[in-house]
Formats: sequence, C-alpha cells, structure tokens
Amino acid sequence: MTITALGYIGLGTEHIEAWRDFATAIMGVQAIDYPDGSLRLRYDEQPWRILVTPAEAPDLFLLGWEVAGPAEMATTIARLAAAGVAVERGSRELAADRDVEDLAVFTDPAGLRCELFWGGRLACRDRFVSPAGVAGFVTGEQGMGHLAVSTPRPDKAIGFYQDVLGFRLSDFIDLPLSPDLTLPITFLHCNPRHHSIAFAPAPGPHTLIHAMVQMTTIDDVGLAYDRVRNAGVPVSITLGRHSNDHMFSFYCRSPDGLEIEIGADARVIDDATWRPRRYDQISLWGHAFTAPPPPPSSSPSAHDRQTFPPSEEQ
Ligand SMILES: [Fe+2]
Repeated sequence: MTITALGYIGLGTEHIEAWRDFATAIMGVQAIDYPDGSLRLRYDEQPWRILVTPAEAPDLFLLGWEVAGPAEMATTIARLAAAGVAVERGSRELAADRDVEDLAVFTDPAGLRCELFWGGRLACRDRFVSPAGVAGFVTGEQGMGHLAVSTPRPDKAIGFYQDVLGFRLSDFIDLPLSPDLTLPITFLHCNPRHHSIAFAPAPGPHTLIHAMVQMTTIDDVGLAYDRVRNAGVPVSITLGRHSNDHMFSFYCRSPDGLEIEIGADARVIDDATWRPRRYDQISLWGHAFTAPPPPPSSSPSAHDRQTFPPSEEQ
C-alpha cells in the first residue's frame, strides 16, 4: 500500500467571486485569498484542502495524493517509473505553495494532474472556524473527501490505481439511467473512507462528476440543505442515503455547474473484513435527480448564464 489519502484537490473556475460566496455561505468552509489570485478552501487543521483558481474551462484539474513519508514517496515513484509513467520532481517553490515537504507530479490515465506528496503542514494555532457554523468536517486519515471522475476508459484508470498506486476495490454500482442505459461505477479506497475516488464512463461536460465533503453531523447536512434552497442554488440530487458507502447527502451545483456532494454519517471500511459487492441502485432511499445537467462548458452562452445564486433555469 502506498497512497494513504486524497490530501487536496484543485478546481478551475470562471467565477472566483461567486465561488467565495458559495464556499463560505453554502459549504460553510473558509475561503482564503492567495497572492496568485486563487482561493484556498479550508475546513480542518490543514491550511487548505481545495484550491479554486481562475481557469477558462471549469473542472477538476489537480489531485494531491498523500504518502506517509519520503521512503514511501520513493517507493511510489519507483512503481510509477516501472509502469512507464513519467514522474517529475516538484520544485521547492511548488512544495511551499502546496504547504508540503516534498512532492512529485505525474498524470493518471484519466488525464488528471496528480501530485504525490508527504509532510503536509498543520496550522496549529490558526484554528478552523466555519463561517456558517458547521460543527466540523470528517478529514484526518480519511483525507479531504472523495471524487467521482469521468473517463472514457475507466478500466485503465481502475487498473492503474489498484496495480500501481495500491488502491483497493470498494465495490460497484450499476446506476440505472433509463430502461436501456446503465452507468457502471467503480469505487476505490486507500484508507477507511469508503472511497477516495470512483470512476465511470459518464458522458458530460466535465471530468469531475462530483466532489464530496463530509460533515460530522447529519444536522449540519440538513442546515446546508436549507442554505442551498434559501439561496436558490440548484439542488441536483435531493437528500438520500447511498447504497454502498451509506452517505447521507445531497448534491448541489457550484457557480460553474460542478457538482458538490455534501454528506455525513458514512460507514468506513475495515480491510480485514470488507468484501466488495455490486449494487443495483445508487441509493437506499431518496437522492432524486431534480435538475437538468449543466450545459457544456464549451458553450459561451452557458458561461454567460453563470451567476450566484444561479438562476432557476440552470
Ligand atoms: Fe459521492
């Protein structure tokens, strides 16, 4: 086993100011301005967990994968090299920007920039305080949350993450989209969080299917749901509980149309007893799809419509 957690992610946005409001007023996380024009979203003892930066095409563009230390980093780099993956050592400047001791950069089979790092800095006296009164977020050994990623060849990504990076199979869901269309989703874990990443061949405007942050209480999820509805932010999937990770959650749209899942009360995996299963539904109850998919990000008219709070027709 090599990777220990999804430490951080990066999202590109065309609407940095709207993202500031969305992060603080809806998600209840801190949004910190950095000199490079990015926002860093903070919701635990680390300086930040989500980097939000201006980009022409809003999407997930960065995954920060944590390893335990320099020895594990060397081992993982060797495994990547043996698999024929080009790995570049990160500069001191990049490590300082990411608030880590050392890092290396490679591209995964889904085409995503991955940063392998160890030694994330902890902000000991600058305590996280939620601007929306959220009691807290589940991070620590479980990392920043989880991602679902679209790729034309999920088999390649799944094989790479298991064989090279040491992820274990959590389970599968066959999501029925219509009577003759089913979306297969594969979930992988690298710590007790049920999954840090899932892959599906989902057609859509973004590589990111959704990013999830986990609150410590279901009441905080309910309060976030109230904030979303009161602000007119589109709820794309209503409250429900997922079949595989048991996450109690809902999904809403960020200012760029990227899906954000806000959840709580998920179960964790004990590898000694866990057995992967295949589920025929994505949820035990709820999770009704309510909003149409966002328009393709390549459409200028779609960009022009992005506001915060987003308009009803989105
Ligand atoms: Fe999720």
